[in-house]
Amino acid sequence: MDKPTLLSGTGIRAGVMVLLLAVWVAACKPDRPASQSTTPAGRDASSAVAENADPSKGIGQVQHVTLNTPLEQDRIKRGQAIYEMKCQACHRLDETRVVGPGWAGVTKRRKPEWIMNMITNVDVMLDQDPEAQKLLELCLTRMPNQNVSIGDARDILEFMRKNDGEE
Ligand code: HEC
Repeated sequence: MDKPTLLSGTGIRAGVMVLLLAVWVAACKPDRPASQSTTPAGRDASSAVAENADPSKGIGQVQHVTLNTPLEQDRIKRGQAIYEMKCQACHRLDETRVVGPGWAGVTKRRKPEWIMNMITNVDVMLDQDPEAQKLLELCLTRMPNQNVSIGDARDILEFMRKNDGEE
């Protein structure tokens, strides 16, 4: 009497295990892509600020930048002119820190979206973005808001790419 009961008990347990495993495997597979696509959307909806789902893109209107190769020469020219007028006083093109950090390598250190949000949304960035705050601690001067448009910021970004040796 004992033997069959034990056997069937084990059999049921093993059967349940297999069934659970099958359910788990089946649940896992279709769930992964589904949860991947819902998580960023969920985050977007819950955040009140215009915050990027990816924090390394900074905070602001600029969520996605398309970079083209080769570089766009007309943008570089406009970007350089804006640099000379509005940025040069505090930023060198090499690694030297004057008031702000030198721009050498900035396009390698930062996402293009982060750079453009820093230029166009500097007050919020300095108040909320951890990377911008680290720079503020280092430089001890708040970069002023210069009312740079998104289009102008994109031109400056192109000029920075050129400065970093892109072609
Ligand atoms: C009055 C000085 C000043 C001017 C003018 C200025 N900046 Fe800045 N900038 C700073 C400082 C200081 C920082 C570091 C963050 C801080 O302390 O506010 C900074 C940081 C930056 C950074 C981040 C650099 C890095 O290494 O990540 C970018 C990008 C930038 N500035 C772009 C610009 C652009 C573009 C202009 C011109 C339109 C400009 N800045 C004009 C002072 C200035």
